[in-house]
Amino acid sequence: MTKNEIIQILEDWNFWNRDQKTGLSRPIYISRLTELFSSNQVITITGPRRAGKSFVMRQMIKQLINNGQNPKDIMHVNLEDPRFTESGVLFLEKIFQTYREYISGQNTPILFLDEIQEIEGFEKWIRMMHELSKAKIIISGSNASLLSRELGTLLTGRHIDMEVFPLSFSEFLSFNNIAFANTLDLIGRESEIKSALRKYIEYGSFPEVALEEQKKEILLSYFEDVITKDLLRRYKIKKAQDLRSIVKYYLSNVTTLSTFKSIERSLGMSITSVKNYTGYLEQAYLIFPLQRFSFKVREQEKSPRKIYAIDTGLCNAVGFRFSENYGRLAENIVFVSLKRKLSLNPNMELFYWKDIHHSEVDFVIKDGLKINRLIQVCWNMEDEKTKNREFRSLQKAMKELNVSKATIITESTEGEEKLNGYMVKMVPLWKWLLAEESLPAGEGQAPSAHKGL
Ligand SMILES: Nc1ncnc2c1ncn2[C@@H]1O[C@H](COP(=O)(O)OP(=O)(O)O)[C@@H](O)[C@H]1O
Ligand SMILES: [Mg+2]
Repeated sequence: MTKNEIIQILEDWNFWNRDQKTGLSRPIYISRLTELFSSNQVITITGPRRAGKSFVMRQMIKQLINNGQNPKDIMHVNLEDPRFTESGVLFLEKIFQTYREYISGQNTPILFLDEIQEIEGFEKWIRMMHELSKAKIIISGSNASLLSRELGTLLTGRHIDMEVFPLSFSEFLSFNNIAFANTLDLIGRESEIKSALRKYIEYGSFPEVALEEQKKEILLSYFEDVITKDLLRRYKIKKAQDLRSIVKYYLSNVTTLSTFKSIERSLGMSITSVKNYTGYLEQAYLIFPLQRFSFKVREQEKSPRKIYAIDTGLCNAVGFRFSENYGRLAENIVFVSLKRKLSLNPNMELFYWKDIHHSEVDFVIKDGLKINRLIQVCWNMEDEKTKNREFRSLQKAMKELNVSKATIITESTEGEEKLNGYMVKMVPLWKWLLAEESLPAGEGQAPSAHKGL
């Protein structure tokens, strides 16, 4: 490619001579990035495809420019741009040199390299640039391990990661123009928020899906993109049909217990394929496994895992029977919300709990050495039998794990019950989400935090 052709493409991505669409602001990520920016480290931004990583990058660039940075000191490039006809590290160097020659001034440039995993061997180049202080570097990609494995070894202690997730419920409300300054603002707007929650559960929380009308079409095209770009192409998978069936299997079996063996049996593929594919899906941020809590590591590893998906909209789009499974989708939403917290707090760990009598608790949250929260998701608490079962499971777990308080997340039931010295708080999902999201990363949600909402 000629330098002129490269510059033309770069001009489309940058603020040099024009403004760029930055979308609706996502302050959580911009304030975190601002904080990370002051360190002398390479910043990696990871997260599922279409979660909004490129938009967050552009919002950050806009903020830098608003604070006085010369736009020409900044280069943003998306390495997945199909107009690039060359590839590899030499091409990346060529892009950089072209930018230096034609655009940038005297200052150390700031490089935003989007979808960097497209460049084979990018890690060494990044390390060289960083070590020689040739640029400040922010990279992004839609794959957890590609960005962390080799880069981790090459840049030990010299890179920090930020994960971008699809919209939290608070972000979702603000994307839907349901604005509130503080929790008092929410009183009296319950029905509006509940109807938004229904959409959040049904169509999920990808930013574009939240904003556009053609929700199902967009979700199906995301699904295809992940399958073809993040999985088939990246891992050179030949058996496309097998891959599709395992993705569908996981997306329609969220919240259920599964072992590699049980999937091998129900899909009729080899256990090695099941294991490999599952690993790829996890690295592409499509699914997340949850392990059983146990004081014994071996038992923990032997137990079946529960699988959750990045987005409930995707589950529904690929064939999950939505209307029958409200409770399971709600549980998935609670999981993703906890996962967001986890990504900000490295001391936090998440498990499910189960005893030999098959009593279960959905989430056990450990902070450091301490188990500090137990959460059960039970959509319908009206039924006496269900209610008793959930309470019984929680009490057993509270006793075994020595925790005195627990939360049951419901559709609408609210209240508190004290049983043999154990306190169980019931709170509707929408309230729980908003309270949880308003708390700092390190803090568990104390039951009293729901008050006033
Ligand atoms: N902050 C935002 N405001 C408005 N729309 C957004 C925002 N973030 C993402 N989107 C929408 O979602 C799509 C995917 O976002 P993008 O940033 O390209 O995701 P990623 O880089 O993670 O793949 C965008 O094309 C846009 O339609
Ligand atoms: Mg992108």
